[in-house]
Parts: sequence; C-alpha cells; structure tokens
Amino acid sequence: MEVIIQPTYAQLVAVSAEIIRDALLKKPHLVLGLATGSTPIGLYEALVRMHKTEGLDFSSVTTFNLDEYVGIRPNHPYSYHTFMKTHFFNAINIPTENCHIPQSTAEAHEEFCENYEEAIVNAGGIDIQVLGIGTDGHIGFNEPSSSLGSRTRIKTLTQSTLEANAPHFGGTVDAVPKMAITMGVGTIMEAKRCLLMASGESKAEAIAHAVEGPITAEVPASALQMHPHTVVIIDEAAASNLKRADYYKQAYANKQKLLSHRE
Ligand code: F6R
Repeated sequence: MEVIIQPTYAQLVAVSAEIIRDALLKKPHLVLGLATGSTPIGLYEALVRMHKTEGLDFSSVTTFNLDEYVGIRPNHPYSYHTFMKTHFFNAINIPTENCHIPQSTAEAHEEFCENYEEAIVNAGGIDIQVLGIGTDGHIGFNEPSSSLGSRTRIKTLTQSTLEANAPHFGGTVDAVPKMAITMGVGTIMEAKRCLLMASGESKAEAIAHAVEGPITAEVPASALQMHPHTVVIIDEAAASNLKRADYYKQAYANKQKLLSHRE
C-alpha cells in the first residue's frame, strides 16, 4: 500500500487527478471504477478542468460506478445517476453508453448483479478504481461484516450510513433508501489499481484501521492491504491517527526524488 499524505484536500485532489490523467494519456481506452459522495467531487472538477483546458479526451473511456440505491429512479435528484451526470459525465466527452451505474429493483437484482460483473470483465477489467471510505471503514456500500470476497450484490445499509446520507434526502433518515446495489469487496480487489481518497478528521480513525489495523471484515477497506497496487491519498487531517505517517511522507518524498532524476 502506498500512502500519500498531502497538506490539504485541494492537494490530494490534484495528485489523484494527475494519476488518472497520466493513465488516460497512456491508455485512451481506460476503464475507470468510480465512486460518489463528497470526497471525489473535487477530483471530478479537476478532471473536467483538464478536459476543458488541456483537451483531456474521455471519448474512449468506460466507467463503472461502485453503487446505487435500490428503489429510487435514475432521475431522482439524489440518485447516484444524477450525481455522476451533474459532477462529471455531462461536463466531459464520454459517450453515455460507456457509463455504467448499477440500477435494479430489489426483485430483479440477482440477474442484474451477474450481468454487471460480466460487463466489467468484458470491458477488460477496471484499470483504476476510485474509492472513498465511510467513517465505519466501508468501501462502496460494503458495510462492516461484508465478506472480503463478496461480489456485486444487494446490501442493507447500516444506521450510521443512513444517518451520514440523510442530509442528501432532506435531512430525514427515513427518506434514505434502506438498500443499495454495490460492487463487492472481491470485485473491487480485482481492479488493477485502487485509489482510495479521504479527507478530514472524521475519516482519521477509519483510515488508521484500514491502513494499519488487522485485515478484517469489520473494516472492509482493510482488505486493500492485500491489493498489490493500492494508493491511499489523504490529507493531514485524515492521516492524523496513522502511526507511520512520517515514514509514508519520507517514502513519497524519496519516490518523487527518484522520478525527478529519471526525467
Ligand atoms: C459511494 C461510496 C461510498 C463513499 C463513502 C464516503 O459511491 O462508494 O463508500 O465513498 O461513503 O463518502 P463521502 O465521500 O461522502 O464521505
């Protein structure tokens, strides 16, 4: 696991956007796994800026979103479909048919989930999976106790996730859909590269458990310790509970030096 600690959210976003830009310049048919939530909004803004100012081309990119609520329509103002269109897809040149976001009713979900997994494989697998993290250590909607080998499936959201998402549904927990379809931890682990972003003190405990704690289904993000190519990009506040923060900073500074010598 590579841990990159940046002073601020703006800087962690800049580093994340550069990783995606470099990958896209090398591989125009990049397959991106995407997340919603507040954390990646700045990343999408940065990529939109790169598209508008540098002509970063998304015309051959394919995307797969991690998750979506069950029981709300795609055009619901707080659906993840609406989120992705608003923050990213409508502002770049990606063909609509290349953008995949889970969508199913609870009754029809099994076949849908199998097809979603198949579509990822048929696209050649995910090159870079963007991830946020819940304060309880969830990734996607894989709540604590999720199998670390789980695949795309329907999940019931925990009370803490319902509460965290209530502000998006008029402030009432009752209005938040109780279930979601999510890629599994096992699905996420098959991405060639994972980019886990976190910002703010509220994420410090989850990040410490995920990065330095034991690998456990109680902290689904801890499975990423077994992933061969995960980059955790966080700000100082989210890094504040890490025991080895100084070492991660030193390692990153050394890597930058090495890269600048090569140029
Ligand atoms: C959403 C998702 C979630 C969020 C997590 C953090 O697609 O995958 O796991 O990444 O709940 O959300 P924010 O960024 O709003 O703190």
